[in-house]
This record gives sequence, structure tokens and C-alpha cells, in this order.
Amino acid sequence: MSKVILLSASPRKNSNTMDVLSICAKAIESENVEAEIISLRGKEIKSCIACNKCQEIGNCVLNDGLDEIINKIKNAQGFIPAAPVYFGTARADIMAALQRIGKVSRGANKFLSWMVGGPIAVARRGGQTITLQEMSMFFNINEMIIVGSNYWNMVFGSHNQDTNDDPEGLETIRQFGENVAKLILKINE
Ligand SMILES: Cc1cc2nc3c(=O)[nH]c(=O)nc-3n(C[C@H](O)[C@H](O)[C@H](O)COP(=O)(O)O)c2cc1C
Repeated sequence: MSKVILLSASPRKNSNTMDVLSICAKAIESENVEAEIISLRGKEIKSCIACNKCQEIGNCVLNDGLDEIINKIKNAQGFIPAAPVYFGTARADIMAALQRIGKVSRGANKFLSWMVGGPIAVARRGGQTITLQEMSMFFNINEMIIVGSNYWNMVFGSHNQDTNDDPEGLETIRQFGENVAKLILKINE
């Protein structure tokens, strides 16, 4: 069965990003594609040190738990990273993670190539579009396929787990999840 990995970059327990990813995962599963949500919460993701060892070993030498996530992505057909906006851009940990995941893919067997997905950004008030653009760079340089929805993949939520107050944003994410699953099934036909 095809699988999509959804990666939350929120450090918070009661997280809007996790709430949004649950909706996305449900939409994916409703099309009979498997979905697994993974969180960076509690992890301290280091930045790429440009050692190029991934070209030899096919994984990352940094020992902070990202390798387990990379192994799951290697076995998936879809990838959806989601980040809270911090000062107008993506939370730093997700960019560190994406840069290392991309570096390993490019150094190894390009496992990201033709993987289906796209980024999601969550913010209290502003900065989602720049955050989406920032995260999209990872998709384009790794031959991945970004899927559209009926709006950009952005949701409003403050510290109070209140994304339900943005039904339009949640519907965009639901539609996005459905489209990701449908494209994966189409590619597999
Ligand atoms: C350091 C920091 C910077 C933030 N910067 C922004 C910002 O630039 N724009 C914004 O709308 N919200 C900003 N926020 C609020 C979060 O993006 C917002 O609360 C989001 O819903 C948190 O997602 P989470 O619950 O999944 O962690 C910031 C929060 C923190 C902790």
C-alpha cells in the first residue's frame, strides 16, 4: 500500500500544526492511501555540516533521530512537511531537517525523485506564503511533485489550538490531502 509521511515541525504539545496534519492524514486515508504523522517535537534537529558522508553511507552521520524519519520517507511515496511560522519564515528545525533529507537523497539514490506532496504553513496572523515558498525550494530541487489545492496550503491558528476557527484553511488542507492521494494512485495505475 502506498504511504505518505506527514512531518510536523511544531515543538508544542497541543499543536495547531498537528491538528492540521490530522485533517490532511484523514483525507489521504479516505482515498485508501496510508498516512503516518511524525513530529519533530522533543527532537533537536541539527543543521547539515556538509561532510558529504551521506554520499558514502546513504544516510546522515548526525545522530539526532532524523535518520529514522529519513528511513520512513525512503519507503513512502508522499511527503508533507508542515511548519508553524516563526518571525515570517518556517521554524528553523524544519529547514534544517529538509536540507539534510534532501542532501541524503541527492547523495544516495534520489529517493525523493517523483515523490508527491507539498508544504503546509500555520500561523497566528501572517507569513504563511513566504514560509510555503521557502519550503517549496526543497521540493523543486529534488525532482518532487508539488500538488495543488483550492488555495495555498495555509491555516490560521494562535496558541490556543483554534484552527477550527479557520474552516476555509482546513478545507484547503483536506482537499490537498485528497489530491496528494489521488495523484499517487494515478501514478501507480
Ligand atoms: C518564536 C515565534 C515566532 C512567531 N512568529 C510568528 C509570525 O511571524 N507570524 C505569525 O502569524 N505567527 C507567529 N507565531 C505564532 C505561531 O506561528 C502560531 O501560534 C502557530 O499556530 C503555532 O503552531 P503550533 O501550535 O503548531 O506550534 C510565532 C510563534 C513563535 C513561538
